[in-house]
Amino acid sequence: MIIIRTIPELKEAIGKVRSMGRTIGFVPTMGYLHQGHLSLVKAAVKECDFVAVSIYVNPIQFGVGEDFESYPRDLTADAQMCQQEGVDLIFSPGDQDMYPGGYASFVEVEQLTQGLCGRGRPGHFRGVTTVVTKLFNLLEPDIAYFGQKDAQQALVLKKMVEDLNMNLTLKIMPTLRDEDGLAMSSRNVYLSLEEREAALVLFKSLTRAEEMIQGGVRKASKISGAMKEIIAGEPSAHLEYIEIVDTHKLDTMEELEAEVLIALAVRVGQTRLIDNMIVEV
Ligand code: PAF
Repeated sequence: MIIIRTIPELKEAIGKVRSMGRTIGFVPTMGYLHQGHLSLVKAAVKECDFVAVSIYVNPIQFGVGEDFESYPRDLTADAQMCQQEGVDLIFSPGDQDMYPGGYASFVEVEQLTQGLCGRGRPGHFRGVTTVVTKLFNLLEPDIAYFGQKDAQQALVLKKMVEDLNMNLTLKIMPTLRDEDGLAMSSRNVYLSLEEREAALVLFKSLTRAEEMIQGGVRKASKISGAMKEIIAGEPSAHLEYIEIVDTHKLDTMEELEAEVLIALAVRVGQTRLIDNMIVEV
């Protein structure tokens, strides 16, 4: 496995892989890898000849006052995990490599980025689509892997790939959870023991919503009301949003029909957590 820090070195390595006609699987990450990331890596190793992982905490997808500076970083541990999984290349550039002085180009997907996390994090998805486009251009993947935990990000990226005729396939892999249901996230490391316990309200409220739908409830307000009650029962949890939307355009639904995405963002102490579930109606 090689660890590459600069763009010229990366271009040379990818050029060689391409000239050998090998398929490239790519897992973009911000590092501090957990089993959720590794499930994407495992899928890539199974399906592609050559697997690359990027580890880059992308400054332009963080807003003012967000956790860019404190975001957990541990390249040594990440590299060990990648090596064990059979990754061929890690790309971990610096900010000057990705956004040198005078940098001025951005990629923006409209509409899908307005609601859910887009409302509370203006500019976030513009940062994600820009860095992912740059990484796709640099790594030239055949298949890129993302997690369903970031449901809105997955939809936005799918739209970007379709609209901009990008020549690759996106695979969205299921959310991995700890045994008690907490969705795996690098940000879980911020949680104290008490906060980790409190953070279970995300999964509990999603499970309650699923039960209600399976029990025949179709009124979105009734379902989100029950979810809000569960979250309000936990003093250190502060709800940012609950949205019940269709799984293609993310349009809000009043009466549920077909398949719905139930997504929420909750602040537990200082930590902002997101989770979601897709439920068949
Ligand atoms: O999902 C993430 O970790 C990031 O948003 C991504 C896709 C690696 C872009 O920085």
